[in-house]
Amino acid sequence: MYNFELTREFARNLDKEDRLAKFKERFYINEGEIYMDGNSCGLCSKDAEETLFKALKAWKELGIGIWTKGGYFLYQDTLGALMAPLLNAEPEEVTCGNSTTVNVHQGILTFYHPTPERNKIVMDDISFPSDKYAVISDIRAAGYNPDECLKEVKSRDGEFIYEDDIIEAMTDDVCIVLLPSVLYRSAQLVDMERITKEAHKRGIYVGFDLCHSIGVVPHDFKKIDPDFALWCDYKYLSGGPGAIAGLYINKKHFNMKPGLAGWQGNRKDTQFNLYQSFEHAKYAGGWQIGTQPILSMAPLEGSLNMINEAGLENIRAKSLNITAYLMYLIDEKLAKYGFGVGNPREDAVRGGHIALTHDDALRINEAFKANKIIPDFRYPNVIRLAPAPLYNSYEDVYEMVERIIKIMENKEYENYENQNREGLTNNI
Ligand SMILES: Cc1ncc(COP(=O)(O)O)c(C=O)c1O
Repeated sequence: MYNFELTREFARNLDKEDRLAKFKERFYINEGEIYMDGNSCGLCSKDAEETLFKALKAWKELGIGIWTKGGYFLYQDTLGALMAPLLNAEPEEVTCGNSTTVNVHQGILTFYHPTPERNKIVMDDISFPSDKYAVISDIRAAGYNPDECLKEVKSRDGEFIYEDDIIEAMTDDVCIVLLPSVLYRSAQLVDMERITKEAHKRGIYVGFDLCHSIGVVPHDFKKIDPDFALWCDYKYLSGGPGAIAGLYINKKHFNMKPGLAGWQGNRKDTQFNLYQSFEHAKYAGGWQIGTQPILSMAPLEGSLNMINEAGLENIRAKSLNITAYLMYLIDEKLAKYGFGVGNPREDAVRGGHIALTHDDALRINEAFKANKIIPDFRYPNVIRLAPAPLYNSYEDVYEMVERIIKIMENKEYENYENQNREGLTNNI
């Protein structure tokens, strides 16, 4: 049970008791700005900057020697080992490479072996669409018809996934279920263990997109036991815009052939023999494709070290508390202006952000930005707010709500147009 109070002093006291408060000074934060977009592009930390500069220095001083003398040839393994505790996975089951969408292709093409009897992939109809675009093209590449083989489970309300409906869709003709861990709009945390258990009973593989949970919600992959998972490293992990993505392959599948092969996935001891036949390394690193972009990986090292130092359990505890505090302030102070909470309320089924809803959300979002609140708009009525446990304080949340009250009282949002959907690229 949470017990909150309405005053600024109460927020300050929560900050005083916050064991993670000290991490804030390790981030670059613009004066006066309240950054609530850590679920889209996490802020830059001094730790991330330091490991990026270290890699740059190695390149400057060593040229091609960066790979061997510099120690960067197996950097993906180093970063994989740093990410493994976030999933409670073995270090050799985790690697980083490519973008998230490419890793969706990698997962699907590895596990999709359609036959005339069994050729369907189950997805929901409300998660981030890039995954679906990838799956449709993969079904086509396998010579099947996406209109027949993509089995989309409709959300009952357009906001949440109902696990019973997903399980009902697990018929004998299904090969794979691909779902998000946390939904990008409504922040629902899906019951991954139940889904995986039910799928495996029916001989179906399961993959998860962890973009909206990695680094803020701990996962126990030893218990959940999915077949593959992928995620981006630029949200809660603060790996930098467009940072390299993550990939998990369950060790029981290390003998499977990677769907997308390349020389960086070859056995390391024979890679430079450059044989014409590919022999993939029997660990997640075997799912590497081309040369690792070291400068898109290096900030992640500093960031992951900091997250592991802070402890993911502590991060989750603060995330739940600070988002519960935000919901309390929404109910108590903002509901009267037409705001609502669009995410689940119970801790067990919610991720790291709050879905603030309003019929006029688009132009209110513009007024937020003019008042130095950095939000994240999702069409048509959701403003996502993610207080990041490592760099947002309780007073940030309090101050943000005070600014929102001012915006609503002054009707400042009326200065902005309710643009149509096409004009939204500045709201990414
Ligand atoms: C849930 C989810 N999946 C996939 C993607 C696509 O990631 P990328 O552009 O890195 O391929 C995103 C991007 O925000 C996302 O939020």
